[in-house]
Amino acid sequence: MKERTNGNEAISEHGAFSQADRDAVYQAILARRDCRSFLPDPLPAAVVKRILVAAHHAPSVGFMQPWNFILIRSIEIRERIKRAFDRADLEAARLFPVERRSLYQSLKLEGILESPLNICVTCDRNRNGPTVLGTTAQADMDLYSTVCAVQNLWLAARAEGVGVGWVSIIKIDDLRSILGVPDHVVPVAYLCVGRVAEFAPIPELERLGWLDRIDLDRLIFKDRWGEAANDPIADANDQEKSRDDFSIEHESSDLTRRLK
Ligand SMILES: Cc1cc2nc3c(=O)[nH]c(=O)nc-3n(C[C@H](O)[C@H](O)[C@H](O)COP(=O)(O)O)c2cc1C
Repeated sequence: MKERTNGNEAISEHGAFSQADRDAVYQAILARRDCRSFLPDPLPAAVVKRILVAAHHAPSVGFMQPWNFILIRSIEIRERIKRAFDRADLEAARLFPVERRSLYQSLKLEGILESPLNICVTCDRNRNGPTVLGTTAQADMDLYSTVCAVQNLWLAARAEGVGVGWVSIIKIDDLRSILGVPDHVVPVAYLCVGRVAEFAPIPELERLGWLDRIDLDRLIFKDRWGEAANDPIADANDQEKSRDDFSIEHESSDLTRRLK
């Protein structure tokens, strides 16, 4: 593939990043972790700003940008959130079969008080009026857009060396009343954000035997739901494959090895 240079970066004719830049993107994706243990160090405002800018550049249905970011540092508010978590966590434990309950109860599933910053990412369902391009047939696209913003934030934070933990074991009504969120706005994600001692190489739930990562090949169908295939990713005319036998799987494991 022919490459031209743009400043310091090599950009291919198809707009692909240089190998180093592609590696950096995949590295952020593969090395991102859900974090539940935090150091107390405060985060520089410039870092917080950059990860919020990343979130704000997420795709959104009809360019609706339905998100807001409530930055929560107040210890009093975080204590109320933590109590709401404790109530929901107690309820949750009872829902698991007895044989999984003690493992569930041993998991640390939040870092609300120890992280220096909590962020609630919300979705304003009325933003830009009642009819939004792209939501007419699928009404929840504004919520999905907000989740895209969360993922951008999470990846940018990882690149900045900032841990993020998503806490969903809190009743939405508790979030609404504690944070004063109006009815037309949905609290989509409650995030704990801060420096961490380490980013674990694999998900904690995997390490502790809660669940394993599913084999990607089992999740890919060909043309219709449930239709498995030997090599569903490769197209018959796959030039990339014949060129250098590149495979995401190969690339991923190589990157993962290098990250350890
Ligand atoms: C929508 C959503 C809600 C989550 N809620 C919680 C939660 O309440 N507590 C928790 O410890 N982790 C929560 N997580 C984190 C997942 O457990 C974690 O993403 C998963 O175990 C994979 O680990 P990784 O993010 O480190 O790759 C949540 C993740 C998502 C995407």
